[in-house]
Amino acid sequence: MAQHEIWDVDTAARYDTPGTGMFSPEVLEPTVQRLAGLTAGGRALELAIGTGRVAVPLAERGVPVSGIELSQPMVDQLRAKVDAGTIPVVLGDMASARAPGEFTLVYLVFNTISNLLTQAEQVACFRNAARHLSPGGCFVIELWVPELRTLPPGQRATVGQVEPGYLLLDTYDVLNQRVVSHHVHFGDGTAAELFRSPHRYIWPAELDLMAQLAGFELESRHADWSGADFTAESGSHVSVYRLPR
Ligand SMILES: C[S@@+](CC[C@H](N)C(=O)[O-])C[C@H]1O[C@@H](n2cnc3c(N)ncnc32)[C@H](O)[C@@H]1O
Repeated sequence: MAQHEIWDVDTAARYDTPGTGMFSPEVLEPTVQRLAGLTAGGRALELAIGTGRVAVPLAERGVPVSGIELSQPMVDQLRAKVDAGTIPVVLGDMASARAPGEFTLVYLVFNTISNLLTQAEQVACFRNAARHLSPGGCFVIELWVPELRTLPPGQRATVGQVEPGYLLLDTYDVLNQRVVSHHVHFGDGTAAELFRSPHRYIWPAELDLMAQLAGFELESRHADWSGADFTAESGSHVSVYRLPR
């Protein structure tokens, strides 16, 4: 499954859930507030900007935002909200594409670094973030912690979420450090809809080493956008990496 096949016209058209889930104010307000603070009066670049879930409210707050995105259908959805003068986007791979200008903040949220399926591409992504930043600029990553502790020997899958009408099942390939997320949506009847996405999972320590290879230092790691402590039980993290001044 290649990324451009996954993020197609259908997926892009269904992506936004205004006001709920990842589009709810409880999720977006602290995200945007933290990112606006980290931009520190400069310009922000979102890698894998998608339909502008975060970029649009960040721009509305007065932060100049640009993007890099692989999927034309996702950019088409973004364009239904804002024009290219407001949020310019370069169509390309976040591990290599160059967006014009210099930035004080580059960010990559919603687990999306894991959409790059090799370690080499993930390291290249850190290096690409670094070359967009001015000295002292920061790179923010939001990523889940792989649920390896809940995967007993011999078992290949974990149940991530169970909700009315929705199941998330992750199948692991621990040898190749890959996971495929199976999102199953169903109604009252027998029919179900399956959306699958492949990822390369990353333990926080490996992420920190990738950052180091690109010249960054870890400045902070929290369990969420509001600054909750990151602990051994945290399911995900917001990590801020900074270049030397
Ligand atoms: C989970 S969505 C996140 C979109 C947006 N950042 C958000 O938070 O809603 C993942 C996005 O990553 C994009 N993507 C996947 N691989 C990419 C790559 N190598 N370079 C740029 N974008 C990529 C997909 O097209 C999709 O828009």
